[in-house]
Amino acid sequence: MTEHGQILIAPSLLAANFTRLGDEASRVARSGAEWLHLDIMDGHFVPNISFGPAVVKALRPLNRMIFDVHLMCARPEILLEPFSSAGADRMTVHVELGAQVETLIWKIRSLGRQVGLAINPPTSMSSLEPHLERVDSVLIMTVNPGFGGQDFIIECLTKIQQAAAWRDKRGLGYRIAVDGGIHFETAASCAAAGADTFISGTGLFAHKNLKAAVAKMRRLAGAAAPGRAAC
Ligand code: DX5
Ligand code: ZN
Repeated sequence: MTEHGQILIAPSLLAANFTRLGDEASRVARSGAEWLHLDIMDGHFVPNISFGPAVVKALRPLNRMIFDVHLMCARPEILLEPFSSAGADRMTVHVELGAQVETLIWKIRSLGRQVGLAINPPTSMSSLEPHLERVDSVLIMTVNPGFGGQDFIIECLTKIQQAAAWRDKRGLGYRIAVDGGIHFETAASCAAAGADTFISGTGLFAHKNLKAAVAKMRRLAGAAAPGRAAC
């Protein structure tokens, strides 16, 4: 398992050309990025619909990257097993689901997958705090989820700082991921605040040379990260 601190780049397939998803997934596999971020939207938790386990299953044989499934879904409990079987390596659920969160964490763990917990911009960090010891990553949403191509919400930087402070204080090892409006400049700002995992859709896919864009984001984030040299 990768230790936190190392910078990971996770292109989000939501920004890919949907007429050529297989080719796009293979392009990401050749880009030097570590994770392929797969956004699952159900039309309830967020006002948009993306794709389901069948698409993830079809993409799975095309590359060996970590498949990072982000469930923006009102009832993720019915989707955990299907996405696990389809090839998810890690699954992230939202802390806004409240009382269900501990059960969801346990179910993901029992399927042998890594656990992520996401928090939306308007949600208080206090809702995340009770779960920190049982997650592999905290996902700080830096836009309101549902759509790619939105502007980064700068107020979320303090949440990243809070997640990093809790991690240090408690000696925990979770990753701090950011998602939404992440491009070169905002990735550097998030890295300076303590983020180590950068999910980016349009910020990477907008570049014809995806490999160069991944390398540049990694370099800028590494240079901005506190106490870390660029990789
Ligand atoms: C937003 C999704 C993101 C999305 C990011 O609801 O969770 O993963 O793909 O897209 P960009 O990077 O374009 O903001
Ligand atoms: Zn996402």
